[in-house]
Amino acid sequence: MSTYTDFRKITTQTLFLSKTKGIKISALTAYDFITAKLLDQAGIDIILVGDSLSNVFQGNETTLPVTMDEMIYHTKAVTKGVDRAMVVVDMPFMSYQTNIDEAFRNAGRIMKETSAGGVKLEGGERVAETVRKITQAGIPVMGHMGLTPQSIHQFGSYKARGKDEEEAKQIIKDAKILEQAGAFSIVLEKIPAQLAKTVTESISIPTIGIGAGMHCDGQILVTPDMLGLNVDFHPRFVRHYAELAEVMIQAVKNYVKDVKEKQFPSEQESY
Ligand code: KIV
Repeated sequence: MSTYTDFRKITTQTLFLSKTKGIKISALTAYDFITAKLLDQAGIDIILVGDSLSNVFQGNETTLPVTMDEMIYHTKAVTKGVDRAMVVVDMPFMSYQTNIDEAFRNAGRIMKETSAGGVKLEGGERVAETVRKITQAGIPVMGHMGLTPQSIHQFGSYKARGKDEEEAKQIIKDAKILEQAGAFSIVLEKIPAQLAKTVTESISIPTIGIGAGMHCDGQILVTPDMLGLNVDFHPRFVRHYAELAEVMIQAVKNYVKDVKEKQFPSEQESY
């Protein structure tokens, strides 16, 4: 078992304490029971049922098509595999942007139906009142700023954000506003490392970076990317910790060969 595993359930309190003590927070995505179980066994702190499931599970180009029902379906499978990690669920596109009451109902639905530990939504100042209302109901909310993929049609590209002074200042301001609104943590996606450092030092809640450099309080990656399963996607911030696509293809080739050559199943594998 990993040195970084301690069997107490991860809560928002554990995460605040990690920031205070300078212990980095590890986070990955999962969309199914088996993956979630393995990540939990390996000692991950946060499992995000990201709306990236739209891309890596459903094969869509953007995160926009995934629905509330689909997020709930996948989260139910994930939480069944998890004992220790905190499971956070992305609120999908248009589940919180329309109005605060609908956002509130949808956040409540996620918590009631999935056994997750919190929800995540994208944006800064413009979602602050929504964050306040949801957190006041006792639902932990994680923010998400910088490159927010649900706004891809507004951004026009997946390039890094916060590179000009005005946008950088807005990101710092937004982070403080989200903290005041009650968010327990903020994902910083694809912003310069120095800006992520400034944000991290400006707020007391933990920042979780993806493509945001080493100064964040924690790091998150999309699991199929870091396991080398998503072979057509290799941005600079994704480190491959395995090449599972190769392992899988070779295993399936071996199986196909064995079946064709009548090497599988053997007598021992039969009844
Ligand atoms: O949907 C997702 O996987 C995410 C991470 C990239 C942070 O939001």
